[in-house]
Order: sequence, then structure tokens, then C-alpha cells
Amino acid sequence: MPDPVKFTIDGRQLEAAPGTLLINAAKEAGIAIPAFCYYDGLALQAACRMCLVEVEKTPKLQVACTLPVAEGMVVHTDSETVRKARKGTLEFLLTNHPLDCPVCDKGGECELQDMVFRYGAGDTRFREDKIHVDEKQWSPVVYYDAPRCILCYRCVRICGEGLGVSALGIANRGAASEIVPNRGDHLDCDECGACIDICPVGALTSGTYRYKTRPWEMEHVGTICTHCSNGCKTTLGVRNGEIIRANNRDRSGINGEFLCIKGRYAFDFNNHPERLTAPLVRTGGELKPVSWAIALATVAKKFNELRARNGKFGVIGSNHTTNEENYILQKFARQILGTSNIDHHRTGDVPTLLDALSGRENALATMSDLYETNAALIVDSDLAQEHPLIAFQLRANWRHHKAHVYAITPGPVREDSYAATARAELGKEFDVLESFRERLAAEQQLIILFGAAIKGHAVRRLVAFGDSLGIPVKYVALVDYSNSRGASDMGLLPGLLPGYRHVRESGMEAGLNYDEILSAANLDALWIVGSNPASRQALTTSGTFVVVNDLFLTETARQADVVFPAASAYEKNGTVTSVTGEVQKVARGPKTMGAKSDLEVFFLLAKEMRQNLGSPKPDDVFREISQSVRGYNVPLLALETGSPIRTMPLNGRIEIEPNPELIRSAKNTLFTSGTLGRFSNMLNSVLESPGALYRDPLKETGVREGSVQLETQTPAS
Ligand code: SF4
Ligand code: SF4
Ligand code: SF4
Ligand code: FES
Repeated sequence: MPDPVKFTIDGRQLEAAPGTLLINAAKEAGIAIPAFCYYDGLALQAACRMCLVEVEKTPKLQVACTLPVAEGMVVHTDSETVRKARKGTLEFLLTNHPLDCPVCDKGGECELQDMVFRYGAGDTRFREDKIHVDEKQWSPVVYYDAPRCILCYRCVRICGEGLGVSALGIANRGAASEIVPNRGDHLDCDECGACIDICPVGALTSGTYRYKTRPWEMEHVGTICTHCSNGCKTTLGVRNGEIIRANNRDRSGINGEFLCIKGRYAFDFNNHPERLTAPLVRTGGELKPVSWAIALATVAKKFNELRARNGKFGVIGSNHTTNEENYILQKFARQILGTSNIDHHRTGDVPTLLDALSGRENALATMSDLYETNAALIVDSDLAQEHPLIAFQLRANWRHHKAHVYAITPGPVREDSYAATARAELGKEFDVLESFRERLAAEQQLIILFGAAIKGHAVRRLVAFGDSLGIPVKYVALVDYSNSRGASDMGLLPGLLPGYRHVRESGMEAGLNYDEILSAANLDALWIVGSNPASRQALTTSGTFVVVNDLFLTETARQADVVFPAASAYEKNGTVTSVTGEVQKVARGPKTMGAKSDLEVFFLLAKEMRQNLGSPKPDDVFREISQSVRGYNVPLLALETGSPIRTMPLNGRIEIEPNPELIRSAKNTLFTSGTLGRFSNMLNSVLESPGALYRDPLKETGVREGSVQLETQTPAS
């Protein structure tokens, strides 16, 4: 470590590493230097002149966002000269600004408004007419109001550098300068809204939030996105029981500020008019609304009758429900219904990976590892489409730390633009893996991420390949949905209890698996919680009593005898586990009248059946999980404060039946999210917009089938 540099800011003696930017050195010492264009993690721009400071022995004011600290430097950040300069900058920025704060979406949380209050640029010497340009809609998500724009280029940089999309640019010069979309009058892009949230003023606004409310009128609830498995923290803005917006501007959680379109805008399924608000019971061949008491009594009576005559049950759990719900569902199935016929839609081979890694500590990579590793190898996944946060992390790692990224995929992927890539048909990945061997073995460390095509024996082969490199290797099994990993850890598997203990430990034998349950002709009762298998395969339900818990009358729910209206993940408390194994807390934001959380339904049903499942409180269930699932023994308080906790749910052998044919990825894209996505008007409107052409990745990258590019690219500094 080189010696630190010593300098003075506002009379305080400070020190920092050589090369530290003055703006960051001051921030570290608790001295805020105002800035519009400077943004952590993005390239320096020095466009706005808001960060001017006085540096002794220099003739002019200096921009703190590009000036590194130097030995003996003496800086004044709040002198009369500095304040006057900032006031002048603001006066200039307001030359054409409409000053429509009372109707602007950003009012109350606008950085320009805050600065004007602080430095008082209420007067102006400009008497010319302001240039007016009409507001434009660039996509269902993004609106642009040029007169409000202060040309800080944050939007241009987050889109180009952060996401690798580069859909925004700048046109014209001087006062006529404007931000422009990549297709002239509209955007072809990820529709992630990052540009909107990063905009310091109200120039970019979102199709979901604009003109609906003020920030202080909402309750702000920190929770976890319910769509893909990446586990992004999101803060829901809730007003009158409705989610109005979602963002993560406080940068808490494993994702910092990142959210894709699904996390930022696809919460609207929650308010969809087709949400179920009353239980349904089939009478006279039709599903009819009934009270909760009647629905619970109907199911309890039937389940008790079947138990009494050793009836055959099948239970399908969910990739979206909480760890607490999954844990209690398997307990209900095994202890009350007396069945091991329990499974869920498996989207990645987590058990085989854990078994193959038996005996090793820290062999599973976390989300922060992906930002810090020297090298990563992606096998069979289009990350930008299927795992947007992971794609963002790896790209940020490449930009900030020059990490080497390698990708072996069947088709073109966004990583082609900076990674060493090879095309391989599904099942032929190992043929091309060898061509990377020498380069991978020369890395200091490696993370291997693999999709659902690598399963069963292929997982063991991949781990053997990792071992043969002779460097430390960590792994990520890329599962699909918000709690796919938790469903597996909590024992929604026919042969494995919570924590991957063999079902034999509970005195039972392994039961029917997912496909067997759904096609069994001799089941007496089938209970499907938070899953819609009928959208993917035919169910055999003739003569079977079918109970479904769901938010909507899905293809599966339509075949039920009783439907319980379920609360969504945004309406409940509990925990979920991300694809990279971080356990995180979900918190209740809105509430849908008539719906209940699955956890509440399990306990009410057990009570109605005169059975006892223990304490119904999510925190108490989590304590029970902590006792039986390795890695989950974490302090609740740490989760409560929003800390993600890493888990390795097992460190030993698992006796498993390899069932690779049961592992099937739903291959959701950025704009689809299984059944939930179908009820998001925002996702549907984006899919129908002109920008939908962008979904063709070949068009995006121009990389051809069969090509191999063995060199990684160097990021622009
Ligand atoms: S919505 Fe996202 S992808 Fe589209 S322009 Fe904005 S930052 Fe870029
Ligand atoms: S639209 Fe917003 S983020 Fe983009 S340059 Fe203008 S003010 Fe900056
Ligand atoms: S990356 Fe996944 S978890 Fe994050 S916002 Fe998008 S869908 Fe949600
Ligand atoms: S923040 Fe320094 S010039 Fe904009």
C-alpha cells in the first residue's frame, strides 16, 4: 500500500490513498460537496460545474469530481466565493428550466430543487424567452421532458456503461442540446428505468409513476423482488393499499441501485383486476365464491376423510412462496397428510451441485463475489435476459476491475461484447470447455455459473473440470424464480427433508416426484400451492380432489375443487433465498382484501383439521428452520435490518435420485415472468411496443453461430 496523502479540507487535517478524488475524500470525512454529473461507479464527466471548490495556490476554482487529492492541498468547500459560484451555476442551469416543481414528478426529491433551496438562486439575470420543447414518450416506460434536463449525462452513462445497452445519446449543441433515444423517436432497450431513477431532476419520468402521487404520501416498504431468482432488494412506494412505484435508491441489499424492468415496474400484477379476493368451491360443476370458513371446512373435512382411509395425497409447492411457507408446507404434507409425494418445479440442479461440493467451505459464490472475482465462466445461460442482476454485476466487475469473463452458450448473448465466448449446442458444452482450459487455469480464481442444461452427471463433470484447473473455484446453479433455491433448501422434494437430509430420517420413503404427482391416475387429493403446472403440461385430475392456492384463476386453478385466494410475495412477511444463496427478508407492503398468505392458510387449515403445526408467526417458523437447515442459523435481527446472509445449506453427501429430466428452466426473459408476468400490464405493453424488435439478440451483437472468440475485451478506462 502506498503512503496516504495528507491534505486539509475546511480546516480539517485528513488523509486518503493517492489518487482519491477530492469529492470522495470529502465525503469520507462527512463533508458533502454538491454534484450533479458525478456519480459513483460511472465514468467522470465534469459537465455541470456544481462541485466547484477553492484550492489554495490555484488561480481558479476547481472541480472536485475530477481532482485527485495531493500532498499539502488546502481546500475550502463552503467559502463565500464557492457559494457564489454554485449560485451562478444554478442560475445558469435554470436558464431554460420550466420551474414547474408543483407539477413535476420529482418535486420533493429533486436534487436541483434541493440545491436551489440551499444556494438560493431564486433570481435570474436572463430575460430571454425560455426555449420550450414538448415532452416525448419514448416507450411505455420512459418519458422525456427536455426543458427540465440539466445535461448531466447520468442517464447516458448508466445505460451505456452500467447496462451495456447504450440506448441513449445526445443531439444538438448548446442550449438546443437534448438527450435522444436510439431509434430516433423511440427506445429499443431493456426498459429497466435505471435512467429514470438516476436522473437528478424530473426530465425522465416513468409510465407507471408519473402524476400519481408525491413521495411523502407513500409508505416506503423495503422488500425483495418477486420475479427472478437474483433477489434484488426493492423499496415499494405504497399508497392506499396500492403499490405505486418500486426502486432502490438507498442502494441497500445485494443489488445496490440495480433493478430490471420486472423489479422496477412489474409489480402491477398485484393490483390486477383479476386477483382472487374470495375462496372458490366447486358446486354443480362451477367454481363459486364462498366464505373462508366454508372453504377451509370443505378442505379440512375431505383431507381428514382421506387421512382416515389412508388416501393418497400429492403436493406441489412453489418457487415464489417464502422459506417459512415452503417449510410449513412440507411439514404439513409429511406430518399431517402423511405423504412424501411433494415436489416443486425444479429449475436448476442445486442438490447435485451441493453433493458434488461435499466437504468444501465457501464453494458457492455470493452476489458480491461476482463483483469481486478475477474471472467468471458462464455455461448455458443468457444472463442479461434470464439473470439481469448477475449480468450487471459481472459487467460492473469487468468495467471496474477488468475481470475476465468467459461464456459458453448455444446462441449469442450480451456478454459477447466483452467476454471470451464460444457457441456450443446444448449437451456439447464440454467439447468447447477444453479450448478455454489453459486460460482458465491461469486465472487466480474462478466462478462457474451454469444454467438448467447442466444437470445430473453434467454437474459432477463440471465440478471435476473446475477441480482439474488447480485454482479456487466457486459455483452458482442458475435457478429461475424468486425462491427456487429456498424451495429446494426447505425440502420441497420427494426424497429430501429441509437441509437435504434424507426423508428416511423421518421414517418415510421417498415419494412421487413432480411429473409422477401430476400424471398419477390414482391420487385422492392433489394440493398445488403457488404454481401453475397446467400452463406447461396436462394434469391428470379426474376423480382427484384438487385444491389450489393462487393469486389468479390460472389454468391450474380452473381445474380445482377448492381455490384459496393467496396473498402475493409483496403482501407477506418472511424470508426468501436468492440464486446465490443470500437469505433476505420480505416485508408486507400492500394488502388485497380477501386474500391470505399461504402460511396463514396452512395454519388455519391445520387448526380446522384439529392438527398442530406450532407457532404460526413467520419469525417463529424461521427459528425452527434455523435449527434444521444448515446455514440458516442466523440472527433474525441481522435479517430484520435488511442484511443479506449467505448460506451453504449443506456440507456433506446427499443421497439423491438423479432426476435430470425434472430440471426444466422456464427460460423467462427480461419481459416475461411465468404466470405472474402475464398479469403485468407493464410487461405486456413493453412486449407489444415497437422496441420489441430488440429481443433478437443476433441483431444486437452480430455474433454468429459456431464462432469462438478466445480473448476477453479490455474495458475503456
Ligand atoms: S430504460 Fe434502461 S435500457 Fe432503456 S434507456 Fe433507460 S437505462 Fe437504458
Ligand atoms: S435526462 Fe436527467 S439524467 Fe439525463 S442528462 Fe438530463 S438531467 Fe441528466
Ligand atoms: S434482476 Fe430479478 S430480482 Fe432483480 S429486479 Fe430483475 S427480476 Fe427482480
Ligand atoms: S459534479 Fe463535478 S462537474 Fe459535475
